[in-house]
Amino acid sequence: MKAPDRADRAARADLAARDAADPLAFARDRFTLPKGVIYLDGNSLGPLPAATPSRLVKAVAGDWGQGLIRSWNDAGWIDLPMAVGGRIAPLVGAATDSVVACDSVSVNIFKLAGAALAMRPGRRVIVCEADDFPTDRHVLEGLAEVSGAEVRAVPYGQVATALGKDVALVSLAHAHFATGAVHDMAALSAAATAAGALSLWDLSHSAGSIAVALDADGADFAVGCGYKYLNGGPGAPAFAYVAARHHDVFVPPLRGWMGHADTFGFSDKWLPAPGIRRLLAGTPGILGLAALDGGVATFEGVAMATAEAKSQALLAAFVARVAIRCPALAIDHPRRRHGSQVTLRHPQGRRVMAALIARGVIGDFRPPDRMRFGFPALYTRYVDAFDAVEVLADVLDSGEWQDARFDALGMVT
Ligand SMILES: Cc1ncc(COP(=O)(O)O)c(C=O)c1O
Repeated sequence: MKAPDRADRAARADLAARDAADPLAFARDRFTLPKGVIYLDGNSLGPLPAATPSRLVKAVAGDWGQGLIRSWNDAGWIDLPMAVGGRIAPLVGAATDSVVACDSVSVNIFKLAGAALAMRPGRRVIVCEADDFPTDRHVLEGLAEVSGAEVRAVPYGQVATALGKDVALVSLAHAHFATGAVHDMAALSAAATAAGALSLWDLSHSAGSIAVALDADGADFAVGCGYKYLNGGPGAPAFAYVAARHHDVFVPPLRGWMGHADTFGFSDKWLPAPGIRRLLAGTPGILGLAALDGGVATFEGVAMATAEAKSQALLAAFVARVAIRCPALAIDHPRRRHGSQVTLRHPQGRRVMAALIARGVIGDFRPPDRMRFGFPALYTRYVDAFDAVEVLADVLDSGEWQDARFDALGMVT
């Protein structure tokens, strides 16, 4: 490693002072982070909240082990998707009864996009953006195939120009999964409404990362991940939002007994449960919901505007340091509002990331050349941004990444 000179020491001391003054510093203790690791991949998998193991022991040994089937009532299992959704709601600017925690983002997109098509008979086009996270498009194209709709993928930022009279739904990621660029939700939702279409927002990279105002911004539908910024654990349930004005009219194409108005009436005909509960299909995964509840609890007392401000400051510190220490790297950093992650491009990014991870700096890699680094506000420190760049510079300058052992980084990191 390069020995720090005076300017380096001053830059790090400045960041250490920001940590000391950080109004969110208390939240780091809410997590169990391994020693010797700088974790910059909370945008892919949030770390373990310190209280989650005991929550899960209670859910398993107590509610399941002792309560057995009685826990559907006594431990509130039957209402847990709504209860957890209600606790996610303030993080995304939604009314408590407009959010439910269930299924995956992919499955929830299918349900909500299908409901949207049914609400706009005569309009068969779903507009989305090319180069968005692929699952959204895969699901929309599958839905289009079975429903006779058409998916129209436009280049980034050109949705407003694609809003013809045939468009039923605009489906967009709020924060882009690679660049972090954030769309103006209020403006695009209004544009969709003005064109007679509905809007569906994927909040996977904004819920728990930046301030979101679904109700105030006029969004119609939204989905988001539980395992990233919400710290709900690997494969945590996702969440779904339906604006209150649609609660009585939306009908998901994927229907099940848990979304039935009378789940235990066992009638032949499906009748929608009131409100967002009708979005449930099958039996909810209670253990996953218990872990997600623990992840959401890490936000207690945290204003999302404060979290966003810190996250953006962390990113700015990281990007500024990269420009000084790793000038050869291209930085995908939108000069506009953005989420909590940034992409650095390197033709051998996969190997460079593998070498970094071997040195305890954990980010991830997305083809073809994108090294992603996330800076969630609850547990990332300013000095982490500095120290991570020092390791990155050393990995690049030393040529360490060329070692053959770094050929085999798995696709999921
Ligand atoms: C923007 C976006 N949408 C959806 C997903 C996938 O969600 P799920 O695995 O819950 O279907 C991801 C995963 O990284 C994502 O980044």
